[in-house]
Amino acid sequence: MGSSFIRRMRKTHCDVEIVALDALTYASDMRSLSALSGDRLFKFVEGDISDRDLVFSLFEKENFDAVVNYAAETHVDNSIRSSSPFLISNVVGVGVLLDAVNRYGTKRFHQVSTDEVYGDLPLGSSSSFSEMSPIHPSNPYSASKASADLLCLSYFRTYGTPVTISRSVNNYGPFQNSEKLIPHSIRQIMCGEPVPIYGSGENIRSWIHVSDHSRAVERILFDGRVGEVYNISAGFEISNIELIRRILSIMGKSDDLISFVADRPGHDRRYSLDFAKLRSTFSFAPLISFDDGLSSTVRWYAENADFSEGV
Ligand SMILES: NC(=O)c1ccc[n+]([C@@H]2O[C@H](COP(=O)([O-])OP(=O)(O)OC[C@H]3O[C@@H](n4cnc5c(N)ncnc54)[C@H](O)[C@@H]3O)[C@@H](O)[C@H]2O)c1
Repeated sequence: MGSSFIRRMRKTHCDVEIVALDALTYASDMRSLSALSGDRLFKFVEGDISDRDLVFSLFEKENFDAVVNYAAETHVDNSIRSSSPFLISNVVGVGVLLDAVNRYGTKRFHQVSTDEVYGDLPLGSSSSFSEMSPIHPSNPYSASKASADLLCLSYFRTYGTPVTISRSVNNYGPFQNSEKLIPHSIRQIMCGEPVPIYGSGENIRSWIHVSDHSRAVERILFDGRVGEVYNISAGFEISNIELIRRILSIMGKSDDLISFVADRPGHDRRYSLDFAKLRSTFSFAPLISFDDGLSSTVRWYAENADFSEGV
């Protein structure tokens, strides 16, 4: 998602200098930034956002106007196995960035967050979470992201730190690590292997194409009000089982490849975001329909079969 945002910024703001700081964990893949190779206004720095010395020296050297934080441990199943890396990257790391923003007078800090901080809704309900809904995370990943959101808002209140926060539904698109549902399922189907689905597959998720997410973050970064939270969604929801059926159909395969596996502990039932604030503040509307986005995503993974191999 971070690389999509960088590629977008380069297209829409060709004269802006961009520095990407990334720890190059297992989830990263430098091929997502290959379009920037040779770009003299782009710099990549390998490092961890929780490394205070490194972060402070980078802020000192670069004198950033704005910082957008995408860096995080993101895979829920990993957080259930071990929460520590999530606490370090997603909470301590955000604290370090906020301290650096204060110390060096950075004009804007945007924290990329998730719908998962609100917890889940019952299946069959038609309600959605707004920015005013209470925070009620269900697993260590979402608890770490909720903690980061609260830390950001507390810095705004205490120090006047110029923060904005966006909470997005699930993203999909090219360059996504194959641990995530859509690329994992496409890879399994390409290899003729079973596609695992947790529980009965009735859980409902809301999806937005990553390039629409980047457009929304760009609007918030430039025109959002400090201290505010903005939900990001395309207003499209689908059950996991229906999603897998659609991918199988696009790829011309039968439903026989679906394999039901034991449910994830604490598995959230339904996510749904009310994004009226984003729509009315910025006239935001997604440009990519789910059907078009899913077809182009399947095509992309078919043409880039070696992407994230071995993960
Ligand atoms: N994937 C989704 O559907 C989704 C939805 C809503 C919000 N988000 C949020 O968006 C952000 C990006 O998600 P993604 O799916 O692209 O994640 P990802 O796991 O695919 O990539 C995360 C990136 O952060 C880097 N990173 C991890 N810990 C770091 C650290 N301590 N210091 C520096 N770099 C570090 C990794 O190397 C990797 O390049 C995350 O903050 C996530 O919580 C994701």
